[in-house]
Amino acid sequence: MFKRFAQRRILTPGPTELPHGVKAALVRETTNPDLDPQFFQEYKQVIELLRPLLGAWQSRVYIWVGEAMLGLEAAVANAVRPGTKVLVIDNGVYGSGFADLVKMYGGNPITPGLSWRRSADPSAIERILDKEKDVEVVTLVHCDTPSTVYNNLREIAKIVSSHGAYLIVDAVSSIAADEIRVDDWGVDVLIGGSQKALNAPPGLTILSISKRAWDRALEVARPSFYMNYQIWEEWLEKGGFPYTMSDVLIYALKESLQRIHNEGFESVFQRHKAARAAFRAGIEALGLEPYIERVDDTCPTATAFKTPLPSPELRRFIWEKYGVLFAGSWGPLEREIMRISHMGIQASADSIAASISILGAALRDLGFNVQVGKAVEVAIETFR
Ligand SMILES: Cc1ncc(COP(=O)(O)O)c(C=O)c1O
Repeated sequence: MFKRFAQRRILTPGPTELPHGVKAALVRETTNPDLDPQFFQEYKQVIELLRPLLGAWQSRVYIWVGEAMLGLEAAVANAVRPGTKVLVIDNGVYGSGFADLVKMYGGNPITPGLSWRRSADPSAIERILDKEKDVEVVTLVHCDTPSTVYNNLREIAKIVSSHGAYLIVDAVSSIAADEIRVDDWGVDVLIGGSQKALNAPPGLTILSISKRAWDRALEVARPSFYMNYQIWEEWLEKGGFPYTMSDVLIYALKESLQRIHNEGFESVFQRHKAARAAFRAGIEALGLEPYIERVDDTCPTATAFKTPLPSPELRRFIWEKYGVLFAGSWGPLEREIMRISHMGIQASADSIAASISILGAALRDLGFNVQVGKAVEVAIETFR
């Protein structure tokens, strides 16, 4: 008997494995981020690296220490007052989760009960906004990672804009995997995280805030320190931060953004789309059913599929025998589906081959009649 792996592989949709350069950035010489003027300049450089990725030239861009949940909560806290009517585009775990945040801050969420297996239909969103005349805020998740449903941000933003509502977008799992243009498309607040397609460690939230969202935050006047845009802005203008910034996380994010700039956005985005098609083809060649009905409705960063045995059991088997970590899901999908990541460096031929072959081998071990070699071949051919 021998152990079948010497090193683990983390093929989950965030946190992801870290590229070598990002790991190296984590062991750079540390500093005092509050006092070192050079660090402040470096923070500003990272903001400048983010702007083109978000299309945020007029919007303010901040990086805060804290998980992406911090950004989501800040976006709601600074836009929702008691009684604010909010259309929650609820076709996923995080999509419907926005309703809880809205209620927590006294708002009145409208939840249309959309299918989790399809992108939200922009014309259906338009009909709701036409009918519910006084919707002030709309929340949308671009890529809802737990089910891997992908929404058409550009089209939905256009509709929301034409109705004069504020748009809050969770782009935690789509930043650095697809085109985003907050200024041109009229996105008021967009939230990102460091540990998804950016392949940096968890711990940072990224925010872009439009002029309208900034003004609304002033009107809402939420009593908060940590989530207060104005306090942030005042400190940045003075050349500092309202609390201790994490130097190592900023170095890691900088390295990750430089990698993306060096490769070129077009290549990065095409690589993710090709990986999405390849994973789907590989999964189907193993006889498994993708959870999302159509490939175009699937996130460019992760693929979910139904498992022939409870997902936690299959995942535990793969982890213990092969040292590969795949993800399950939450809530109603917890036992039903498994997810494989193609975020950042995982949208690559080696990762596709490793994922499909290990999954196939495990299914064979468990008595399922699957053609592992054929599935890997199909996936890799699709990635060409
Ligand atoms: C779409 C989406 N939004 C928000 C989050 C929350 O991110 P965090 O766990 O970093 O707070 C996640 C995490 O998986 C996510 O997938």
